[in-house]
Amino acid sequence: MRPTESRASPGVQSPPERLEIDIATTRPGTPGGIFMRQFWHAVYRTQDLPIGHVRPIRIMSEDYALYRGQSGAPLVVAYRCPHRGAPLHLGGVEDDAIRCVYHGWKFDNSGQCVHQPAEEAGFARKVSLRTFPTREYLGLVFAYFGEREPPSFPHFPHRQSEGLIQVWNHEHVPCNYLQSFENSMDEVHVAFAHQPGGSHVKLSADLPIITAEETAWGMLRFGTRRTGKVRQTLHYAPNITRVIVPPLAGMDGVGGWSEIYFSFTPVDDENHLWLITSHVEVTGKDAEAYRAKRAEYDSKFAAAPLVMDVVRDIWSGKVRFADVTHPDLAIVQDIAVQAGQGRIEDRANERLGRSDAGIILWRKILTRELLAIAEGRPAKKWETPPAEVVPTLGF
Ligand code: FES
Ligand SMILES: [Fe+2]
Repeated sequence: MRPTESRASPGVQSPPERLEIDIATTRPGTPGGIFMRQFWHAVYRTQDLPIGHVRPIRIMSEDYALYRGQSGAPLVVAYRCPHRGAPLHLGGVEDDAIRCVYHGWKFDNSGQCVHQPAEEAGFARKVSLRTFPTREYLGLVFAYFGEREPPSFPHFPHRQSEGLIQVWNHEHVPCNYLQSFENSMDEVHVAFAHQPGGSHVKLSADLPIITAEETAWGMLRFGTRRTGKVRQTLHYAPNITRVIVPPLAGMDGVGGWSEIYFSFTPVDDENHLWLITSHVEVTGKDAEAYRAKRAEYDSKFAAAPLVMDVVRDIWSGKVRFADVTHPDLAIVQDIAVQAGQGRIEDRANERLGRSDAGIILWRKILTRELLAIAEGRPAKKWETPPAEVVPTLGF
């Protein structure tokens, strides 16, 4: 039979080939890349970007320059200068403008070229640099990379009560972002992966039954305990988890539990960032005590080996998972298992069970949305999450 001939009987059409959808990729132009570019993304910690500094960033397999002008506003711009492609982060900030180091072309904060030292007057106004909407919120810089108008900002609410806003150590994790987002939907791992060290002991008392439901803004997930109490966690589309968690290792006794906003931002398909802020409900003297304890914790962290070095020692078998000690133990444990699944997890060969209900639902939602994009059908119009839906402790 020649390759062009069909095996189907005359008059019977073969079923259309099933479109394979890659739910993990965020490369530009792919359904996953188009889906992800509908949303704001956390790209950097506010505290790491002083006025007058430029940094290279890579988000969803594309490079950019991020700088903070003299007015204090951060701005994401194209990575390469439109003249002859030099990386713009090699250049300098002048007021709110950026100047390329190669031949001195200068671009204002709308991207308009305003100075070309070696060119004729009039050429500059014909040249511009691509800029991307950029904002700050909860100690992080966010940017929007889509083609359309960006959604409203802030794109998710935070706890309304008084308290301390704490930005965590930023981590570059060597695996696809979806593994971390899925891990945040997997409450059962807490009783096992975080058992050594006992940092999450209260969550390990019994195994919750996991259920989940889609919302207008993402997914609500419930962990129901034997007592009937329910821990509710919010997953804002496409990569933010808002949850209440135990105190960081070493922070017990001050401030209690805190509400955490995790952003899992893709760097490319095989790497992502953890950009995390917590809201700790402490005021007055308690806040001072918390700050002091946090400073102690930060100095221990600064003196400790790098998280990824410890993870590599676990992977190579040099250190047993159960024996690891580190000020950020839970983070070491999480990265060891999540990035240990492989750079891009082989989802075709998993055996999912009932405790994976949150992961199963989110994959269905992702697949549905990416298929709609791939086939040119209308996709879901995601709404800004309401302030009144909040995570609960469930104890
Ligand atoms: S490459 Fe930037 S000014 Fe020439
Ligand atoms: Fe974890």
